[in-house]
Amino acid sequence: MKRDLISLADLGAPGVREILEESSRLERLRGTAAHPRPLAGLSVALLFDLPSTRSRLALEVAAVELGAHPIVITGEASQASRGEPIEDTARVLGRSVALVACRTPKHTRLTALAAACAAPVINALTRKSHPLQVLADLHAVRAARGRVDGLRYAWLGDCTNVARSWIEAAGLLGLDFTIASPAGYGPGAADLALSGGVTVTEDPHAAAANADVILTDTWVSMGFEDSAEGRHQALSPYRVTRELLAGAAPGVNVLHCLPAHRGEEIDADVLDGPGSLVWDAVAARLHTAKAVLAWAAAARVPAA
Ligand code: CP
Repeated sequence: MKRDLISLADLGAPGVREILEESSRLERLRGTAAHPRPLAGLSVALLFDLPSTRSRLALEVAAVELGAHPIVITGEASQASRGEPIEDTARVLGRSVALVACRTPKHTRLTALAAACAAPVINALTRKSHPLQVLADLHAVRAARGRVDGLRYAWLGDCTNVARSWIEAAGLLGLDFTIASPAGYGPGAADLALSGGVTVTEDPHAAAANADVILTDTWVSMGFEDSAEGRHQALSPYRVTRELLAGAAPGVNVLHCLPAHRGEEIDADVLDGPGSLVWDAVAARLHTAKAVLAWAAAARVPAA
Protein backbone atom coordinates (compact mmCIF):
# COMPACT_ATOMS: atom_id res chain seq x y z
CA MET A 1 0.00 0.00 0.00
CA LYS A 2 1.30 3.45 -0.86
CA ARG A 3 2.19 5.79 1.97
CA ASP A 4 0.45 9.17 1.81
CA LEU A 5 1.22 11.76 4.48
CA ILE A 6 -1.96 13.80 4.68
CA SER A 7 -1.86 14.18 8.46
CA LEU A 8 0.44 13.00 11.24
CA ALA A 9 -2.06 10.20 11.95
CA ASP A 10 -0.77 8.58 8.75
CA LEU A 11 2.55 8.10 10.56
CA GLY A 12 1.14 7.19 13.96
CA ALA A 13 3.22 7.70 17.11
CA PRO A 14 5.89 5.11 16.19
CA GLY A 15 6.11 6.62 12.71
CA VAL A 16 6.60 10.16 14.04
CA ARG A 17 9.37 8.95 16.34
CA GLU A 18 10.99 7.01 13.47
CA ILE A 19 10.91 10.12 11.27
CA LEU A 20 12.63 12.09 14.06
CA GLU A 21 15.30 9.39 14.44
CA GLU A 22 15.87 9.24 10.70
CA SER A 23 15.94 13.01 10.24
CA SER A 24 18.61 13.27 12.96
CA ARG A 25 20.61 10.55 11.23
CA LEU A 26 20.32 12.33 7.89
CA GLU A 27 21.36 15.60 9.50
CA ARG A 28 24.51 13.95 10.86
CA LEU A 29 25.31 12.36 7.49
CA ARG A 30 24.67 15.46 5.38
CA GLY A 31 27.65 16.24 3.16
CA THR A 32 29.34 12.88 3.77
CA ALA A 33 29.77 9.96 1.40
CA ALA A 34 27.57 7.90 3.73
CA HIS A 35 24.50 10.05 3.11
CA PRO A 36 21.92 7.68 1.54
CA ARG A 37 20.30 8.26 -1.87
CA PRO A 38 17.17 6.11 -1.67
CA LEU A 39 15.43 8.15 -4.39
CA ALA A 40 18.21 7.78 -6.99
CA GLY A 41 16.72 7.67 -10.46
CA LEU A 42 13.26 8.80 -9.32
CA SER A 43 11.34 12.01 -9.96
CA VAL A 44 9.35 13.99 -7.39
CA ALA A 45 6.59 16.46 -8.31
CA LEU A 46 6.21 19.46 -5.99
CA LEU A 47 2.85 21.17 -6.56
CA PHE A 48 2.46 24.63 -5.08
CA ASP A 49 -0.93 26.32 -5.48
CA LEU A 50 0.11 28.81 -2.75
CA PRO A 51 3.33 30.76 -2.10
CA SER A 52 6.14 29.06 -0.20
CA THR A 53 9.73 29.75 0.72
CA ARG A 54 10.72 27.16 3.35
CA SER A 55 8.63 24.19 2.23
CA ARG A 56 9.64 24.48 -1.38
CA LEU A 57 13.32 24.87 -0.51
CA ALA A 58 13.23 21.98 1.95
CA LEU A 59 11.40 19.58 -0.37
CA GLU A 60 13.38 20.51 -3.48
CA VAL A 61 16.78 20.28 -1.78
CA ALA A 62 15.71 17.11 0.05
CA ALA A 63 14.73 15.45 -3.23
CA VAL A 64 18.07 16.39 -4.83
CA GLU A 65 20.16 15.23 -1.85
CA LEU A 66 18.26 11.89 -1.78
CA GLY A 67 19.13 11.40 -5.44
CA ALA A 68 15.82 12.37 -7.06
CA HIS A 69 14.90 14.86 -9.77
CA PRO A 70 12.40 17.41 -8.38
CA ILE A 71 9.85 19.07 -10.66
CA VAL A 72 8.18 22.17 -9.22
CA ILE A 73 4.76 23.03 -10.66
CA THR A 74 3.19 26.23 -9.40
CA GLY A 75 -0.54 26.83 -9.65
CA GLU A 76 -0.57 29.12 -12.65
CA ALA A 77 1.86 26.91 -14.55
CA SER A 78 -0.37 23.84 -14.67
CA GLN A 79 -3.56 22.98 -16.53
CA ALA A 80 -5.23 22.63 -13.13
CA SER A 81 -5.35 26.45 -13.05
CA ARG A 82 -7.51 26.24 -16.21
CA GLY A 83 -9.95 23.82 -14.64
CA GLU A 84 -8.47 20.38 -15.32
CA PRO A 85 -9.98 18.11 -12.66
CA ILE A 86 -7.63 17.27 -9.81
CA GLU A 87 -8.36 13.57 -10.39
CA ASP A 88 -7.03 13.83 -13.95
CA THR A 89 -3.94 15.69 -12.70
CA ALA A 90 -3.51 12.89 -10.15
CA ARG A 91 -3.64 10.20 -12.84
CA VAL A 92 -0.98 12.04 -14.86
CA LEU A 93 1.26 12.44 -11.82
CA GLY A 94 0.91 8.79 -10.86
CA ARG A 95 2.09 7.77 -14.32
CA SER A 96 4.97 10.25 -14.38
CA VAL A 97 6.67 10.55 -10.99
CA ALA A 98 7.42 8.40 -7.96
CA LEU A 99 6.33 10.89 -5.27
CA VAL A 100 4.15 13.99 -5.04
CA ALA A 101 4.13 16.78 -2.46
CA CYS A 102 1.33 19.31 -2.68
CA ARG A 103 0.46 22.66 -1.10
CA THR A 104 -3.10 23.70 -1.81
CA PRO A 105 -5.67 25.67 0.23
CA LYS A 106 -8.56 23.18 0.23
CA HIS A 107 -7.82 20.07 2.25
CA THR A 108 -10.41 18.09 0.27
CA ARG A 109 -8.48 18.89 -2.91
CA LEU A 110 -5.40 17.28 -1.37
CA THR A 111 -7.32 14.18 -0.28
CA ALA A 112 -8.89 13.91 -3.74
CA LEU A 113 -5.42 14.14 -5.27
CA ALA A 114 -4.13 11.41 -2.96
CA ALA A 115 -7.12 9.16 -3.62
CA ALA A 116 -6.68 9.30 -7.40
CA CYS A 117 -2.86 9.26 -7.57
CA ALA A 118 -0.86 6.04 -7.82
CA ALA A 119 2.14 7.79 -6.26
CA PRO A 120 2.36 8.68 -2.55
CA VAL A 121 1.13 12.22 -1.80
CA ILE A 122 2.60 14.39 0.95
CA ASN A 123 0.78 17.35 2.46
CA ALA A 124 2.93 20.47 2.10
CA LEU A 125 0.20 22.61 3.76
CA THR A 126 -3.52 23.01 3.46
CA ARG A 127 -5.73 25.39 5.42
CA LYS A 128 -6.45 22.46 7.72
CA SER A 129 -3.02 21.15 8.57
CA HIS A 130 0.74 21.42 8.13
CA PRO A 131 2.34 18.18 9.30
CA LEU A 132 5.76 18.85 7.74
CA GLN A 133 6.15 22.02 9.83
CA VAL A 134 5.38 20.20 13.06
CA LEU A 135 7.83 17.39 12.31
CA ALA A 136 10.51 20.06 11.85
CA ASP A 137 9.47 21.80 15.08
CA LEU A 138 9.70 18.49 16.95
CA HIS A 139 13.14 17.83 15.42
CA ALA A 140 14.33 21.25 16.63
CA VAL A 141 12.97 20.68 20.14
CA ARG A 142 14.56 17.23 20.31
CA ALA A 143 17.91 18.60 19.16
CA ALA A 144 17.84 21.44 21.69
CA ARG A 145 16.34 19.63 24.70
CA GLY A 146 17.34 16.03 24.03
CA ARG A 147 13.69 14.93 24.03
CA VAL A 148 10.20 15.96 23.01
CA ASP A 149 8.46 14.18 25.90
CA GLY A 150 8.05 15.53 29.42
CA LEU A 151 7.93 19.17 28.30
CA ARG A 152 5.08 21.69 28.58
CA TYR A 153 4.04 23.18 25.25
CA ALA A 154 1.90 26.33 24.98
CA TRP A 155 0.40 27.67 21.75
CA LEU A 156 -0.63 31.33 21.77
CA GLY A 157 -3.09 32.72 19.25
CA ASP A 158 -5.32 31.48 16.49
CA CYS A 159 -5.86 27.74 16.03
CA THR A 160 -4.17 27.70 12.62
CA ASN A 161 -3.26 24.76 10.42
CA VAL A 162 0.07 24.48 12.26
CA ALA A 163 -1.74 24.53 15.63
CA ARG A 164 -4.02 21.73 14.44
CA SER A 165 -1.06 19.58 13.45
CA TRP A 166 0.50 20.35 16.85
CA ILE A 167 -2.73 19.23 18.57
CA GLU A 168 -2.54 16.04 16.55
CA ALA A 169 1.13 15.52 17.47
CA ALA A 170 0.32 16.10 21.13
CA GLY A 171 -2.39 13.45 20.97
CA LEU A 172 -0.17 10.93 19.22
CA LEU A 173 2.88 11.45 21.44
CA GLY A 174 1.07 12.20 24.72
CA LEU A 175 2.51 15.72 25.01
CA ASP A 176 1.36 18.30 27.57
CA PHE A 177 -0.11 20.91 25.21
CA THR A 178 -2.09 24.05 26.04
CA ILE A 179 -3.67 26.39 23.50
CA ALA A 180 -4.63 29.94 24.45
CA SER A 181 -6.87 31.74 21.97
CA PRO A 182 -9.48 34.50 22.09
CA ALA A 183 -13.12 33.48 21.86
CA GLY A 184 -13.92 32.42 18.33
CA TYR A 185 -10.31 31.66 17.39
CA GLY A 186 -9.69 28.52 19.44
CA PRO A 187 -9.90 24.88 18.41
CA GLY A 188 -13.29 23.44 17.50
CA ALA A 189 -14.64 20.08 18.55
CA ALA A 190 -13.21 18.43 15.41
CA ASP A 191 -9.76 19.86 16.19
CA LEU A 192 -9.86 18.64 19.78
CA ALA A 193 -10.98 15.20 18.62
CA LEU A 194 -7.44 14.90 17.21
CA SER A 195 -6.11 14.76 20.76
CA GLY A 196 -7.48 13.75 24.14
CA GLY A 197 -5.22 15.78 26.39
CA VAL A 198 -5.14 19.36 25.13
CA THR A 199 -5.86 22.19 27.59
CA VAL A 200 -7.84 25.10 26.11
CA THR A 201 -7.87 28.57 27.69
CA GLU A 202 -8.43 32.20 26.74
CA ASP A 203 -5.67 33.34 29.16
CA PRO A 204 -2.27 33.72 27.44
CA HIS A 205 -0.40 34.17 30.75
CA ALA A 206 -1.93 31.03 32.24
CA ALA A 207 -0.92 29.08 29.12
CA ALA A 208 2.63 30.45 29.17
CA ALA A 209 3.13 29.86 32.92
CA ASN A 210 5.92 27.30 33.37
CA ALA A 211 5.85 26.41 29.67
CA ASP A 212 9.04 24.90 28.25
CA VAL A 213 8.15 25.63 24.63
CA ILE A 214 5.97 28.52 23.45
CA LEU A 215 4.59 28.47 19.93
CA THR A 216 2.80 31.00 17.79
CA ASP A 217 1.87 31.76 14.19
CA THR A 218 1.03 34.74 12.03
CA TRP A 219 -2.28 36.40 12.84
CA VAL A 220 -3.30 36.55 9.17
CA SER A 221 -2.58 33.29 7.38
CA MET A 222 -2.88 32.85 3.61
CA GLY A 223 -6.51 33.18 2.61
CA PHE A 224 -7.58 35.13 5.73
CA GLU A 225 -6.59 38.60 4.49
CA ASP A 226 -10.20 39.86 4.43
CA SER A 227 -10.50 39.44 8.23
CA ALA A 228 -7.08 40.98 9.01
CA GLU A 229 -8.38 43.95 11.06
CA GLY A 230 -10.55 41.83 13.36
CA ARG A 231 -7.77 39.33 13.80
CA HIS A 232 -5.28 42.01 14.86
CA GLN A 233 -7.71 43.34 17.47
CA ALA A 234 -8.64 39.94 18.89
CA LEU A 235 -5.15 38.46 18.88
CA SER A 236 -3.06 41.41 20.16
CA PRO A 237 -3.18 40.18 23.82
CA TYR A 238 -1.58 36.94 22.62
CA ARG A 239 1.64 38.53 21.30
CA VAL A 240 4.70 36.60 22.45
CA THR A 241 6.80 39.12 24.37
CA ARG A 242 9.70 38.98 26.83
CA GLU A 243 7.23 39.90 29.57
CA LEU A 244 5.12 36.86 28.71
CA LEU A 245 8.22 34.66 28.65
CA ALA A 246 9.13 35.84 32.16
CA GLY A 247 6.40 33.59 33.54
CA ALA A 248 7.54 30.56 31.55
CA ALA A 249 9.95 27.84 32.67
CA PRO A 250 13.66 28.77 32.83
CA GLY A 251 15.29 28.31 29.44
CA VAL A 252 11.97 28.47 27.61
CA ASN A 253 12.19 27.90 23.87
CA VAL A 254 10.10 29.63 21.23
CA LEU A 255 8.87 28.38 17.86
CA HIS A 256 7.16 30.17 14.98
CA CYS A 257 6.60 28.49 11.61
CA LEU A 258 7.36 31.72 9.67
CA PRO A 259 6.88 34.04 7.93
CA ALA A 260 6.82 36.17 11.09
CA HIS A 261 5.60 39.72 11.67
CA ARG A 262 7.84 41.24 14.32
CA GLY A 263 5.87 43.45 16.68
CA GLU A 264 2.60 41.67 15.85
CA GLU A 265 2.32 38.03 16.98
CA ILE A 266 5.91 38.00 18.27
CA ASP A 267 8.42 40.62 19.35
CA ALA A 268 11.75 40.86 17.52
CA ASP A 269 13.80 40.26 20.68
CA VAL A 270 11.94 36.98 21.23
CA LEU A 271 12.02 35.74 17.63
CA ASP A 272 15.73 36.52 17.37
CA GLY A 273 16.50 35.96 21.06
CA PRO A 274 18.50 33.25 22.82
CA GLY A 275 15.56 30.89 23.43
CA SER A 276 14.38 30.96 19.85
CA LEU A 277 14.41 27.65 17.97
CA VAL A 278 12.81 29.29 14.95
CA TRP A 279 15.89 29.15 12.75
CA ASP A 280 16.80 25.65 13.96
CA ALA A 281 13.33 24.54 12.85
CA VAL A 282 13.96 26.10 9.44
CA ALA A 283 17.13 23.99 9.13
CA ALA A 284 15.16 20.98 10.36
CA ARG A 285 12.65 21.40 7.52
CA LEU A 286 15.28 19.88 5.18
CA HIS A 287 16.16 16.92 7.40
CA THR A 288 12.54 16.04 8.17
CA ALA A 289 11.49 16.49 4.53
CA LYS A 290 14.19 13.99 3.59
CA ALA A 291 12.97 11.51 6.20
CA VAL A 292 9.38 11.86 4.97
CA LEU A 293 10.29 11.45 1.29
CA ALA A 294 12.37 8.38 2.12
CA TRP A 295 9.54 6.96 4.28
CA ALA A 296 7.00 7.42 1.48
CA ALA A 297 9.34 6.01 -1.16
CA ALA A 298 10.16 2.93 0.90
CA ALA A 299 6.71 1.42 0.33
CA ARG A 300 5.99 2.69 -3.16
CA VAL A 301 4.80 0.43 -5.92
CA PRO A 302 7.36 1.12 -8.66
CA ALA A 303 5.14 2.42 -11.49
CA ALA A 304 7.11 5.55 -12.32
N1 CP B 1 6.43 27.47 7.41
C1 CP B 1 6.27 27.32 6.06
O1 CP B 1 5.64 26.37 5.60
O2 CP B 1 6.93 28.25 5.32
P1 CP B 1 6.64 28.52 3.76
O3 CP B 1 5.21 29.02 3.66
O4 CP B 1 7.64 29.54 3.36
O5 CP B 1 6.78 27.22 3.03
